Amino acid sequence: MRKKYLWFVGLLLMLLVTSSCAMPPVESVAVPNQAGALSLRSLAQAQGFGIGSAVTLKGLRKDERYRQVLVREFTQIMPENAMKFNALQPQRDRFNFAAADEIVDFANDRGLKVFGHTLVWQRALPAWLKAGNWTREELLDILHKHITTAVSRYRGRVFAWDVVNEALSTDSSLRDLIWLRGIGPEYIDLAFQWAREADPNARLFYNEYDPSGWGARAEQKVDALYNLIAGMKERGVPIDGIGLQMHVKVSDAPTYEGVKKSLERLAQLDLEIQITETDVRLVGSSDPLATQLATQAQIYDGLIRACLDVPRCNGFWFWGFTDRYSWISGFTGKPDGPLIFDRFYQPKPAYDAIAQALAESEASRP
Ligand code: G3I
Repeated sequence: MRKKYLWFVGLLLMLLVTSSCAMPPVESVAVPNQAGALSLRSLAQAQGFGIGSAVTLKGLRKDERYRQVLVREFTQIMPENAMKFNALQPQRDRFNFAAADEIVDFANDRGLKVFGHTLVWQRALPAWLKAGNWTREELLDILHKHITTAVSRYRGRVFAWDVVNEALSTDSSLRDLIWLRGIGPEYIDLAFQWAREADPNARLFYNEYDPSGWGARAEQKVDALYNLIAGMKERGVPIDGIGLQMHVKVSDAPTYEGVKKSLERLAQLDLEIQITETDVRLVGSSDPLATQLATQAQIYDGLIRACLDVPRCNGFWFWGFTDRYSWISGFTGKPDGPLIFDRFYQPKPAYDAIAQALAESEASRP
């Protein structure tokens, strides 16, 4: 009984958090916002800027409103989980592209660009890979085959790949993971080379978390990231871009100035930059809900404006767009509302902030 009751209270809280902003229904074609624009997509397209969202199959398969808003609001999408190692190669040498194909086909048919996520990561690895006692040659073979097979399959249909994700640890050294242990630090260079060979036209990104401009640790991370990429460039490794994740909190988020400073430093590497994986979780704040949502909007505003104000930063991603399918509640175990649309696809103050920032940006990008 007690468990049932808690579940009900949680649900009620979640509904309150995510349905608080009365806005036009999703069925309307236009989404009025302060900027008076039709959609984030149209605002971004006007200046050659990418506006993207991670996509979950749950929403794509069963939820017509999810599909409508996705197509209406974004220029680019990234599978949240469907292209990870465990999804693509659940058994050794037995690839399963069904879920990834579904997303890529959906996007290609509707003029949405697809960013592949992610080829080399320490997480989302299949059990067979984690359990094996591999020699260096075997691991090289596994990684080469995985990258070549995945990237070749989507050649011409995926415009960019997260080739290596989160190779740096919290202390900014190279993270201790299966590829580093078994292959050595050159796994990073090799991954990019193999991806380039498999699709010479895809934009190849290195994606990292936390280098976003708050506190001394973030500066250390930006330095480490800068040095890692600078080294790759010196060695002639084919890399085109840097992705910066932004999983932040209303109670603890980087400022516009901090993020802009990080972006400007990384822009010196002369690569494109995209802010990837943005969500701003509410949990941890004791402010009234309306205040939390206003703060959340301000944070989104600062993050996207920092990107818009640095010419090399040419894309901004949300880690999902509706609170209905966000990973955050599953992760923290608490109701939340980290995204720009609530559970019922009503735009939140954060949506208006993003639209306004896009409308006011004057930078034009190639
Ligand atoms: O689909 C299965 C389901 O069948 C099973 O019953 C259930 C039981 O645990 O698991 C489900 O899979 C979960 C999957 O999300 C889909 O919901 C996995 O356990 C869970 O680990 C997985 O979490 C994802 C996580 O990456 C690990 O891959 C999150 O959704 C996803 O948002 C998160 O995204 C990462 C980025 O890829 C990289 N940067 C950080 C970011 C947040 O951690």
